Amino acid sequence: MNEKELDPRTLQVMGGYGLEQSVEAESLAPPLAQSVAHPFKSAEHAEWVFDTEANYEEYGGLQGYIYTRENNPTLDIFEDRIALLEGGGGALATSSGMAAISLVALFALEAGDEIVVSNHTYTCSFELFSRTLPRFGVETKVVDHPEELSQWEEMVTENTEFMFVETPSNPVLYVGDLEALAGLADANGTKLIVDNTIATPIIQRPLEMGADVVIESVSKFISGNGTILGGVLVGEDEFIQEIRRLEYIQYGNAMAPFNAWLSLLGLESLDMRMKKHSENALEVARFLEDHSAVEKVNYPGLESHPGHELAKRQMDGFSALLSFAIDGGKEEAFELLNSLELIPTATHEGSSRSVICHPASTIFHRLTDEELEEAGILKNLLRLSVGIESADDLIKDLDRALSKI
Ligand SMILES: Cc1ncc(COP(=O)(O)O)c(C=O)c1O
Repeated sequence: MNEKELDPRTLQVMGGYGLEQSVEAESLAPPLAQSVAHPFKSAEHAEWVFDTEANYEEYGGLQGYIYTRENNPTLDIFEDRIALLEGGGGALATSSGMAAISLVALFALEAGDEIVVSNHTYTCSFELFSRTLPRFGVETKVVDHPEELSQWEEMVTENTEFMFVETPSNPVLYVGDLEALAGLADANGTKLIVDNTIATPIIQRPLEMGADVVIESVSKFISGNGTILGGVLVGEDEFIQEIRRLEYIQYGNAMAPFNAWLSLLGLESLDMRMKKHSENALEVARFLEDHSAVEKVNYPGLESHPGHELAKRQMDGFSALLSFAIDGGKEEAFELLNSLELIPTATHEGSSRSVICHPASTIFHRLTDEELEEAGILKNLLRLSVGIESADDLIKDLDRALSKI
């Protein structure tokens, strides 16, 4: 059977581990290979597997398991499943989302290269691109208004090594036009890398819209319970194999097998969870939009969101993340957080349990006031990752807390 023809709802449960593999392993659930090393059949077999160059050339990849920093049977299933869901040729499982982002950057770049990145990205990605990589001679051009294609057009040239966009973005939920950005990348002979963490492959498949590489933080929706740190890098098979050959094993970014195993369990319910997240988030967003103590709500599912039509076109659902500006400043924002009785204050998103935070004083606190202002992360902004609890209970909790400010 050609797995590529299967529906994502089937793939999330058995992609990379179909009937044949489960019968062979005598295990319905994917086995956990919690081992650093993988013994060989003989000395000759070890020599043959280690002749990676010849194997890459002849078979296009490794022909046996060597060492978990390089490959591992459980990681293999997880990587195949994610690659199938994203529609990529291959995937690399990494120790965190940031490990996937830094791995692709370190693989692709050398001193003198140029990159163009959106300023609406998770703070660590933004700082990696705008502060750390320039120390190694990389020139980073930052797009301040990523919703305006003309800004990208002005900055992207034939010297651009890659473009990086996060959509929808954390925390103001900017929606990037993936087809237009991929077209621009193509026209300039460069690559488009997309952070698909907030949408997940159930809601959005950037590779199908022309992107070249997708990264995701597996710590979020994919694993789903906030129990593991993990990441994944997806792209064409040859590209992925090339990174695995050197940079992946040199930088030591591999995901822990137990984390891959938990993520496989998490993936099984991804479609159902994303539907419930999206449903709840829309209900909560509508409630907040109508509340007199709320100035503005950023959620792509709302008709008032500037990227709503685009989101409807390129996403199948709007996911869990929203942010809202309250009437007041930091003091009122803190008061609201401290008045909640159900929703914990935590810097996380994408787990079944709702969490809320004040981005300007936490995740984004290292940005300058000017950078915060440009990215729309104001002192009265709160970010809420809506879980899969009862929306009514969440709304009651928010209503109670809003009445205190
Ligand atoms: C959109 C997005 N991308 C990437 C990351 C980094 O992922 P990780 O925490 O797994 O390194 C995060 C983390 O918050 C994120 O929100």
